[in-house]
Amino acid sequence: MTTRRDFLRQGTLLGAGLTASPFIIKAGGIGANDKIRVGLIGCKGMGYGDLENFLRFPEVECVALADIDSEVLNSRAAETEKKTGKKVKHLYKDWRKLIDHKDIDVVIIGTPDHWHCLQLVAACQTGKDVYCEKPLGNSIGECNIMLRAAERYNRVVQVGQWQRSDPHWQDAVAFLRTGQLGKIRTVRVFSYQGWCPSIPVKPDEPVPAGVDYDMWLGPAPKRPFNRNRFHFTFRWFWDYAGGLMTDWGVHLLDYALYGMNVTAPESVMASGGKFGYPDDACETPDLLQTIYTFKDFTVLWDHAIGIDDGGYGRTHGLGFVGENGTLVVDRGGWEVIPEGKRMQAVPLTKNYGKGGLYYHVENHLECIKSRNRNCNASIEIGAHIAKFSQLGNIAYRTGKKLSWDGTSFHDAEADSYLTKAYRAPWELPKI
Ligand SMILES: NC(=O)c1ccc[n+]([C@@H]2O[C@H](COP(=O)([O-])OP(=O)(O)OC[C@H]3O[C@@H](n4cnc5c(N)ncnc54)[C@H](O)[C@@H]3O)[C@@H](O)[C@H]2O)c1
Repeated sequence: MTTRRDFLRQGTLLGAGLTASPFIIKAGGIGANDKIRVGLIGCKGMGYGDLENFLRFPEVECVALADIDSEVLNSRAAETEKKTGKKVKHLYKDWRKLIDHKDIDVVIIGTPDHWHCLQLVAACQTGKDVYCEKPLGNSIGECNIMLRAAERYNRVVQVGQWQRSDPHWQDAVAFLRTGQLGKIRTVRVFSYQGWCPSIPVKPDEPVPAGVDYDMWLGPAPKRPFNRNRFHFTFRWFWDYAGGLMTDWGVHLLDYALYGMNVTAPESVMASGGKFGYPDDACETPDLLQTIYTFKDFTVLWDHAIGIDDGGYGRTHGLGFVGENGTLVVDRGGWEVIPEGKRMQAVPLTKNYGKGGLYYHVENHLECIKSRNRNCNASIEIGAHIAKFSQLGNIAYRTGKKLSWDGTSFHDAEADSYLTKAYRAPWELPKI
């Protein structure tokens, strides 16, 4: 477990972008001109978007796909063949076969959150590097295990927080560091997702043909099949994910901490609920506000589904509220809104370049070749922010103002959320 001192120390290093020294290149490692053979687990949504970006690099070859849903697996295999002109050699319904494959260098994990820990640990144990979708883990305990696995097996892991590689986000942080905003009193971090509708309650159904539902559930509790708890909408159920607090929280709160060069808050509290859609099927709140208090400023998390008015005329983003002005940044660009005449406005710089995800994958490939574990969204960064976002959900679920020392809340109810029970035969990996 991370001690408070470690938690803080790690954060200072993260803020400075200095996580670990590069590894010595392993004998038998990937040479600068070698092919990089990639396998994807979880092919429907973001995982396939990640693979498409890997395939923009000529040295990358997709050798295997794994998915529990035959329809997804077969259609993605056909799409990949069309894109690359080559048949994908191996298609698996059981992801463990992909992990056992000797000729795979990198595993992309695009499965729902409750699978990331088992799959990442297994990939590390078989000597593969990993591109793991965010949030890194589905509990604080899982994140700690994943960190230890990547360290023990010397794997180069990039977490899917691609804004870390998107140039305009970096420009915004560079401006923050000039200090022109004056003292920052609060960072407003918001994610309003109007395009995500409410999900009406649906009856349970027989498992669709071609779906290995037991393998979709994996370590999560056994339940009858229900479409709401399956592709994409799994994120609104506690067994598999943490709602918007973790889904978008890891992307945006990461920049709040990075921008402010801090890690551990003194306290966290949260309030919200199913205010928009009290009778729909979601378990996670459709509106939530979480306040993280630091020594002399706060970070306010604010989310909603079904409506779009987040703040500053944007659906999502951050406002670093300084005494001279507010820096606003989102996926579209960044700008500074002055406080009266205290400073000059900085006009909007729009997102530019080839796309954050392209640069994120490029950075991962460079790190793989040089055996540098200090990727732009290293596992240390991914684990830290996944744990930080979990604090918000734990504060919401307990209804308490909590303090966290890096290991414990010193509150039995809150500490009961540190890990989730695994359904046999799956076991929380012991690393
Ligand atoms: N980085 C980003 O911007 C971003 C954006 C969206 C989603 N995500 C993350 O990507 C992950 C997946 O989300 P999604 O919206 O793409 O989900 P999805 O439901 O659309 O896709 C998940 C896929 O994984 C498959 N799957 C589930 N269990 C499996 C198993 N045991 N073995 C093999 N395949 C399995 C499913 O059949 C499905 O095809 C989540 O962790 C999510 O947070 C990241």
